[in-house]
Amino acid sequence: MNIAIITGASSGLGLEFYKEIQKEELDQIFIIARREDKLREHAEKFGKIPTRIIPMDITLKENIQRLQETLDSEDTNVKFLINNAGFGVYGSVMESEYSLQGAMVDLNVRALTEITSVVLKHMKENSYIINVCSIASFVPNANLTVYSSTKAYVMSFSRGLRQELKKRKINVTAICPGPMATEFLEVAGIDKGVSKMFDTLPTTKPSLVAKGSVKAAKKGRAVYTPHVLFKVYRALAKVLPRSLLIPFCKC
Ligand SMILES: NC(=O)c1ccc[n+]([C@@H]2O[C@H](COP(=O)([O-])OP(=O)(O)OC[C@H]3O[C@@H](n4cnc5c(N)ncnc54)[C@H](OP(=O)(O)O)[C@@H]3O)[C@@H](O)[C@H]2O)c1
Repeated sequence: MNIAIITGASSGLGLEFYKEIQKEELDQIFIIARREDKLREHAEKFGKIPTRIIPMDITLKENIQRLQETLDSEDTNVKFLINNAGFGVYGSVMESEYSLQGAMVDLNVRALTEITSVVLKHMKENSYIINVCSIASFVPNANLTVYSSTKAYVMSFSRGLRQELKKRKINVTAICPGPMATEFLEVAGIDKGVSKMFDTLPTTKPSLVAKGSVKAAKKGRAVYTPHVLFKVYRALAKVLPRSLLIPFCKC
């Protein structure tokens, strides 16, 4: 059974990935998030391919174990793993709630790593892992310090894993969107007027990001950065000294 697994499919970019992946030849799609009602609603509305709803908090170890048991007990071949669930919190490290900062690391880093490790054993040649990273991975962003650090991990993890999986012909792509108008901004506490940087940056439609990401993955790309402005930013971040860029990249 050829399947796709999408984490964080209850809203925003994850939902757009769910819609986009309907175009692939798959037997089933597993969609994961905590809000079961949202997952169910999306499956009923957009699910042309049979969809399995897995309502769970992926930061809980017992849930990763449960996913492992499900995959082990069935004849699953994961064609697409889309590690999309993630969140950020705006504010300085000193002033932000310590537990929220830890929770960000738990979700964006630990859960993503554990799910990948569990799912990899069920992937064969010509399969794809899409890790949702961010432009925040290019340069550390003050006031999003923990978030940008978690995304720098996602970038590094994706590149290392890509190398490991080359022989197995499993492609790993890190995708690096800029701001998108999703629930992310509200969860992060980035209302209008909070961050000059966010107020001035252009937003990209999540549907375009999902479409471009799947295309980039199938082309075997290592990194995909939607929007020309952010492609330029990525190029600059590669060549300019970090000490020069960091003061300008404060959120
Ligand atoms: N929006 C942006 O500006 C932006 C820019 C660059 C990168 N990104 C990245 O894009 C990805 C998707 O974010 P988004 O913009 O689509 O925001 P979003 O609408 O808030 O989506 C986040 C998703 O993650 C799920 N989630 C959160 N905690 C979870 C947990 N513990 N277990 C399982 N699922 C969990 C949420 O579902 P439940 O609440 O139902 O669990 C939701 O489906 C994230 O990795 C984010 O870092 C976003």
